[in-house]
Amino acid sequence: MRAPVLRSIADLRAALAPWRRAGETIGLVPTMGALHEGHLSLVRLAKAECRRAVATIFVNPSQFGANEDLSAYPRDEAADRKLLDGAEADLLFAPAVGEIYPPGFATTVSVAGLTDHLCGPHRPGHFAGVATVVTKLLVQALPDRAYFGEKDFQQLQVIRRLATDLDLPVLIRGGATIRDADGLALSSRNRYLSVDARAKAAALPRLLREAAGRLADGGDAEAVLNEVRQDMAKAGFTRVDYVTLADEAALQPLAHAKAGSRIFAAVWLERTRLIDNWPVM
Ligand code: PAJ
Repeated sequence: MRAPVLRSIADLRAALAPWRRAGETIGLVPTMGALHEGHLSLVRLAKAECRRAVATIFVNPSQFGANEDLSAYPRDEAADRKLLDGAEADLLFAPAVGEIYPPGFATTVSVAGLTDHLCGPHRPGHFAGVATVVTKLLVQALPDRAYFGEKDFQQLQVIRRLATDLDLPVLIRGGATIRDADGLALSSRNRYLSVDARAKAAALPRLLREAAGRLADGGDAEAVLNEVRQDMAKAGFTRVDYVTLADEAALQPLAHAKAGSRIFAAVWLERTRLIDNWPVM
């Protein structure tokens, strides 16, 4: 069955109301399109846990920095629709920018603390853009559950925080990171990589996995992290934004691994920024 594509908030609400009245649970999967198996795994999880799975595609301008890839961001709604049909999504909400940010729009949701480290300082305004659009999508759809990937672990925690703090009646669920055969986490941005860069990119998960093993004894993290930074330069990454050991819940950097810690990194290959994370213990 082909999932209908809706463009307006009014049509979205009109489509969801009868499902809700019938007692059908609704799972929401927000995306920016250019869908891959990582996104589809979240749709399948939504479908497994809820009666209805609603996907959204919206390339959200407010989460892109001035020098980032908003205009170049890959868009292919026809291909995305086929993939969503294959994953048995019930509905696609794909609004235009004016529907989400009409003239006069002036409200921002910003989550303090969790955005102080990792990607926060490197992408000023990014998480406020994410938090604002996700809050809007949650209020527009009022799903029972909403699904986000652990690949963007900081984003997942920011969204959990805003849902709790704003008393949104939704359960935020995290989905495991889906990876290519060589370990690279799937990302819409991987398609920017040249063949050469794509081959080099597999060093990112490999170095994080190896470091996680070495950090797990609770020794001095900084020494291990410094070696990882050097190994990343040797592996051909053109810039390392950060390699950090942090607590999973608060995302505060740690000097020693403890239960519930994870290693996080953001690196550049050519003009593409890649992020990944790996559990330590
Ligand atoms: P986007 O990058 O399209 O990702 C949509 C969802 O898919 C996010 O929850 C992301 O964490 C998840 N995802 C991406 N790659 C994944 C992978 N390899 N394995 C598992 N899940 C993966 O993240 C965004 O869009 C936006 O910031 C959004 C939340 C939609 C707000 O605009």
